[in-house]
Amino acid sequence: MLKKLIRAGKKLSRQLDPLEKEFESVYPMIDKVPGFLKSPQQERWFFRAAKKAPANAVIVEIGSFKGRSTVSFGFGCKGTQKHIYAIDLFEGDGKDYGQGEFQKVFQANVERCGLTEYVTPIKKHSLEVAKDWNKPIDILFIDGSHEYEDVKADFEAFYPFVRKKGIIAFHDIRGKWNGVIKYWGEVQKSGWLKDVGKVSSLGFGTKG
Ligand SMILES: C[S@@+](CC[C@H](N)C(=O)[O-])C[C@H]1O[C@@H](n2cnc3c(N)ncnc32)[C@H](O)[C@@H]1O
Repeated sequence: MLKKLIRAGKKLSRQLDPLEKEFESVYPMIDKVPGFLKSPQQERWFFRAAKKAPANAVIVEIGSFKGRSTVSFGFGCKGTQKHIYAIDLFEGDGKDYGQGEFQKVFQANVERCGLTEYVTPIKKHSLEVAKDWNKPIDILFIDGSHEYEDVKADFEAFYPFVRKKGIIAFHDIRGKWNGVIKYWGEVQKSGWLKDVGKVSSLGFGTKG
C-alpha cells in the first residue's frame, strides 16, 4: 500500500514537471536508437543531468555504441553550448556488442535526432583519448569495457579532469557485470563521490 502511494506520488510529481513533458516529447526519438539502457528511467536520468548541467558543460561518454545514451544526453543539450564527446572504438567485440564498423550507424542516429552539432564522436580507445585530454568535465559517463581493470583505468584516467561537483556515472552496476559491480563497490567506499545514488543499473555521484 505504502509502495503504491509512493509510486503514485512520484508519477504525479513527474506529470507536473515541465522537464518531464519535454522528456516525453523526445523519448520516442530516443527509443528508435538501439542500445543497452534500462528504459525509460536511465534515458530520463541522462536527459535531466544534461539539462541541469552548466551552460557550456562538457559531457564525456566512454562507450557510445549506436548512440542511445548519447542522444539521451543530447536532447538535454539542445539549444545550448553544452557538448558531448562520445568515445568508442565503434567496431564491436564479436560477442556482447556484435561485430562490424558502426560509427556510421551512430552518426545517422545522432543526425536523425537533430543533434549532430552537440556531439563529437571520437573513434579511439578511451585511454588513448585520456592521454591528450585537457578539458574540465562536467559529466563523465563510464560504459566502455566492463572488465574490472578497464573500468578502474577509465575512472582513474578521467577523474582528475572532472570538475568539483561534476557528475560521474557508471553503467551496469548490477546483473552479470562483476567487474563493474566490484569497482563500483570500491568507489562507494572510497569517498571519491558524494551524493551517491542509482537508477536501476546506473550508479552515480558527484565529485566532492
Ligand atoms: C555497453 S556498450 C555502450 C552502450 C551505450 N552507452 C548505449 O547507450 O547503448 C559499450 C561500448 O564500449 C565500447 N568500448 C569498450 N571498451 C572501450 C574502450 N576502452 N574505449 C572505447 N570504447 C570502448 C564498445 O565498442 C561498445 O560499443
